[in-house]
Amino acid sequence: MDTRIPKPYGEAVAPAQTLDRRDFLKQGIKVAGTAVAGGIAGTAALSAQGAEPIGKDFPAWSNTMGKGLSTYGQPSRFEDPVKRYAASGYGTLAPGTGSARSPIEKLEGVITPNGLHYDRSHNGTPDIDPAKHKLLIHGLVKRPLTFSIAELSRYPMVSRICFLECAGNSSGNAVAAEPPQVSAGNVHGLISCADWTGVPLALLLNEAGVEPGGKWLLAEGADSAAMSRSIPIEKAFDDAIVALYQNGERIRPENGYPVRLLLPGWEGNMNVKWLNRIKVTDGPTHTKDETSKYSDPMADGKARQFTFEQGVKSVITRPSGTMTMSGAGLYEITGIAWSGAGRISRVEISLDGGATWRDALLTGQALPKSVVRFRLPWEWNGSPAQLQSRAIDEKGNVQPTRKMYKAENAVDGRFHNNSIVAWGVDADGSIKNVYS
Ligand code: CO
Repeated sequence: MDTRIPKPYGEAVAPAQTLDRRDFLKQGIKVAGTAVAGGIAGTAALSAQGAEPIGKDFPAWSNTMGKGLSTYGQPSRFEDPVKRYAASGYGTLAPGTGSARSPIEKLEGVITPNGLHYDRSHNGTPDIDPAKHKLLIHGLVKRPLTFSIAELSRYPMVSRICFLECAGNSSGNAVAAEPPQVSAGNVHGLISCADWTGVPLALLLNEAGVEPGGKWLLAEGADSAAMSRSIPIEKAFDDAIVALYQNGERIRPENGYPVRLLLPGWEGNMNVKWLNRIKVTDGPTHTKDETSKYSDPMADGKARQFTFEQGVKSVITRPSGTMTMSGAGLYEITGIAWSGAGRISRVEISLDGGATWRDALLTGQALPKSVVRFRLPWEWNGSPAQLQSRAIDEKGNVQPTRKMYKAENAVDGRFHNNSIVAWGVDADGSIKNVYS
C-alpha cells in the first residue's frame, strides 16, 4: 500500500494558476483564529481555481449507464480495503480474546464506520438470537423486571454521539522499551466514535424502582466470559443509555448486539456488551474483570481501583508513523481529540518536540465526550521535525507528557495512557513513533 502523504496541491495545476503557498499558509493561519465555516469555504475556493474546463474528453463512466441499484452499499472497488488491526493474545486457544483496533490514520471526520469500530472482547463475539435475549433488572429494586428486545424497542429513545475508548488503549507506548514502529491505529486505535441510540437507563431503573440502599449496579454481559463491571448508580441517572443502534443501524455483533450499555466518557470495558443483567447493589461487586484487570498499578506500589473516566487525549493521525512525506512543501496536520470529562476546548500542536506550541483549528462541533477533529496547515522545510499534539478540555485538564505518565504508573502500568504522542519526521520524509 502506498503510504506516501500527498500534498494539498494537485500536480496538474498549471504554473500560472498555482497559488502561492505562503498565501495558502496565511489563509490557514487566519482561518485558525476565525469561524469554522469561513475556513472550509475559503479552502474550497482556493482549490477550485485549478479545475479543468467542463465539456471535453468524457470518461466512459460519463456516457454509459451506471451499475444497477444495490441493497447494501459497499466501498468503491478502487479503494484499498480499510481494515481493523486484529490481534488475539492467545491464538487459536481463544481466538476471540483480544482486540481489533480502528485504523484511525485512514479515517476522516469523527464518526467511525460500524465495520471499523474497535472491538475489545474477553471471550469472542456471542451469536445472540434477539428473539431469545432478555435484559433483567433486579437486586435492590421494588419490582424486578425483564425486557425483551422487542419491548425495549418500544420505549422512548435518545441519541448521542460519543467516543468509546478502551482503558488499555496506547498500552504499547506505555510499556514497550522502544517505541513500536507500527501505524497510529495499531498503537492508539482502541478509540472510536459513533452515534448511539437507545433507552435512557434511568427510565428503566425508575420503572423497577430503586430501593434507598441501592448505590451501585452490577452490569453483566451474555457472552461466555460473563464480562461484568460495577458502576456507581449516579452514572446511571446521569447519562447512561441502554443502546440498541449504532450509527443508525442495529448494533454490530462485536459491539454488543442486540443491546449494550453505554456510559459516555467512561472506559470502554464498563460499557458492557450483550447486556444481560443489571443488578442494583449496595456496593461494588469486585468482579474478576475489575480486579484481575482494569485496576491500575502505580509507581508507589499501590493500585488505583475504579478509575472510570477517560483522560483528555489527542493523536495526530496524519502525518503519522509508517507514513512518508512526499518532499518539502505544504501539508495538513490533522488528528483527533477527546475527553471523558466533557468538551475539548483547545488542541495545541508542536513541530519542535514540545519546545513551542500553536493552536490547531477544531473543525465541526466540539460535542462533550465525543471525538473532535483538529487541523493545522504546515509548510515542511525538509528538516527533521517532531510533531506532537496536546489537548485541553473544558475542565482545564491538560494532556500529560509520557514522562509524567511513566513517573506516576508502575513500570508495567498500561491503563489510562493518555500521554502526548510524538511522531519524528526524518529529512528523508519517513515518520517514526518516538518517545519524547
Ligand atoms: Co480505569
